[in-house]
Formats: sequence, structure tokens, C-alpha cells
Amino acid sequence: EEDLSRRLSAGLRDVPDYPSPGVLFKDITPLLADPDLFAESVRALSAAHRPGGGAEVDLVAGVEARGFIFGAAVALSLGVGFVPVRKKGKLPHTTVSAEYTLEYGTAVIEVHEDAVRPGQRVLLLDDVLATGGTAEAAAGLLERVGAEVVSVSFLVELGFLDGRRRLAGREVNSLLKY
Ligand code: PRP
Ligand code: MG
Repeated sequence: EEDLSRRLSAGLRDVPDYPSPGVLFKDITPLLADPDLFAESVRALSAAHRPGGGAEVDLVAGVEARGFIFGAAVALSLGVGFVPVRKKGKLPHTTVSAEYTLEYGTAVIEVHEDAVRPGQRVLLLDDVLATGGTAEAAAGLLERVGAEVVSVSFLVELGFLDGRRRLAGREVNSLLKY
């Protein structure tokens, strides 16, 4: 466990002052480029949701763009389908949408209205939990289209931003906390 955290954190690169002055950005690209670390992170994100684990899921959802990387890999590893939660205007069929707050201004994400059948159990994945705005909006969208969100899971949680507060009442899991 402690060992996993250490190995995974070695795959993250701290980039100072990105995307704005004073922010220390956690860059996941070194981890993605390392096939063992990438596989290990996908295994760890999937583990609780394997058959017999009690938290089985019917679908994995991921938030564009970085949530697609882990979401698609975890879906394949669990043998379930994948639901893309996309930025506004990218999905072709009828959508439901949610606005959420960014550091400056707002953004909109969408999901197809028929992405989930009523009561399907969904694992929502993203790379980073920061303020929680993105994940709160995405979980809300999935619930609006009928999902039971079994867990909202992240590779990295920036605990000092207290994003968990916005996901209160939902199961939240992260592999690494800062
Ligand atoms: C980043 C990150 C999470 C989100 C976390 O996505 O991938 O999705 O911010 O921030 P929050 O908890 O404060 O909402 P971003 O939209 O910046 O870009 P991406 O398209 O590269 O995923
Ligand atoms: Mg993102």
C-alpha cells in the first residue's frame, strides 16, 4: 500500500506555476509513459470493483479529457462498457448537461440521455480531484440519467482543496493524496 503510493507518486511530475502562477501542477504523463506504473494504477483503480468484491459495476464513466485515459483502461480491465462525459457540444445525440465552476468562470459537461439504463451501477473516474466541481457535476449528470454512482474514484486527490466536501454522501476513493 505504502509502496504503491510511493511508486505511483514517482510517476507524477510537479510543474510549478502551471496553469497559473502559484499553482503546483501534478503532471501524470510520466506515469502514463511507464507501462508498469500505468498498469499498476489501472489495477488499483479497478480492484474494489472486480466480481465478488461487493462493489461490482455495470459501467465505467470518465470525464473528458484525462478521465478518458483511466476510465477506458479500467472499463476494459473490468470487462464493462465505458460512458464518456464530454465537454459541451461534443456528443451527437440528445444530452443532459451541467454547468460547474472553474477557477475563472464556468464550464459545461454533458452525457447522452440514454448512456445508462435505470439502476445501472457506475464507477465514475477522473485523474485528479481538486475543488470537486467537475466530479460533482459529472456524478449529478450520471444520476440524472439513471445511474447509481457506486464510487467516484481518482488517481490523485488534492486534499487541501477539500473537493470531497462537494461529493458528500457519495463514496469517494483516491490512490494518492496530497
Ligand atoms: C482537470 C482534471 C479534473 C478536474 C479537477 O480537468 O483532469 O477533471 O480538472 O478539477 P476540479 O476538481 O477543481 O473540478 P480539466 O478540465 O482541467 O482538463 P482535462 O480536459 O485535461 O481533463
Ligand atoms: Mg479533467
